[in-house]
Amino acid sequence: MEKGKITFTMIKPTAFKNNYTGDILKMIYQKKFRIIALKMMQLTKDQAAAFYIEHKERPFYAELCEFMSSGPIIAAILKKENAVRDYRQFIGSTNPIEAEKGTIRSVFGSSVEQNAVHGSDSDDSAMRESSFFFSDLEIFSNF
Ligand code: RTP
Ligand code: MG
Repeated sequence: MEKGKITFTMIKPTAFKNNYTGDILKMIYQKKFRIIALKMMQLTKDQAAAFYIEHKERPFYAELCEFMSSGPIIAAILKKENAVRDYRQFIGSTNPIEAEKGTIRSVFGSSVEQNAVHGSDSDDSAMRESSFFFSDLEIFSNF
């Protein structure tokens, strides 16, 4: 994996449950991101807590961990020049109501918590989050 050219995303439990996975992945491909790793899984509450450890002191942390472990999610690594910046722009603001029209969260998000997708906020986060979910054997870096 090349730092600066990848980002990490999750399709969150509500979006998965509503069968938005196909539509979201299609939007991602249409924006010219390559999917170089992909899996479906359900996080335990402890795993969600570890993944979101940076938010430990935030008031929504417990609820977020509860939500993120409430059902299956899709995890993926996306490859593109300026992947982190471009993907954050493409998913839109955290709150779907504030997200720009046409962004993933504006189309598929239902609340500030259930906002359809996660997207890494920096290159360092992208590397950490990708390694959290995927082993080297599961990442097709040169694809
Ligand atoms: P994400 O990490 O999921 O890509 O979202 P983000 O950077 O836009 O937002 P962040 O501040 O990192 O928050 C992580 C996730 O926590 C939930 N949240 N709930 N109830 C609330 O006020 C609240 N604020 C944030 C959301 O699911 C958010 O994506
Ligand atoms: Mg974040």
